Amino acid sequence: MEKKSIHFRLNGHEVETVVKVTERLLDVLREHFGLTGTKEGCGIGECGACTVIVDGNAVNSCLIPAVSIEGHEVLTIEGMMQNGKLNAIQQAFVDHNALQCGFCTPGLVMSAAALLRHTPHPSRQEIQVAIAGNLCRCTGYEQVIEAIESVAAEEKKP
Ligand code: FES
Ligand code: FES
Repeated sequence: MEKKSIHFRLNGHEVETVVKVTERLLDVLREHFGLTGTKEGCGIGECGACTVIVDGNAVNSCLIPAVSIEGHEVLTIEGMMQNGKLNAIQQAFVDHNALQCGFCTPGLVMSAAALLRHTPHPSRQEIQVAIAGNLCRCTGYEQVIEAIESVAAEEKKP
């Protein structure tokens, strides 16, 4: 099996690893770097459990060949903590009871983070569209939407 060395920025650090050309970004994050917060659900781009942020955009890491990540910037749920504490989005999910099993939660947080990065004050519809690819069978979406709205509202304050 052909292998290739790749370099990229991962959660703020320059990293390097050797991947099989068939490996997915999801596999590399979990198996090469031990970043198991990124989950595999469907493996075919439908559930959003594997969502990470690449160059500022939320993507399904199960659909991305690891070799294509050369030179790019990847952020996973592990990179969201700030000074050892949950960041504002993570804390809002906790405060609004927007999680139960936690399997979908990392992906939802990453989709929310990408949305708020591009659209700091999203409408309810924009939030719904942003998380439409993240399936959750436990909590429903109302608390998730409220959590994201609360972060946007907090940022609006002077
Ligand atoms: Fe990637 Fe479901 S595991 S979208
Ligand atoms: Fe999302 Fe359970 S909390 S699937």
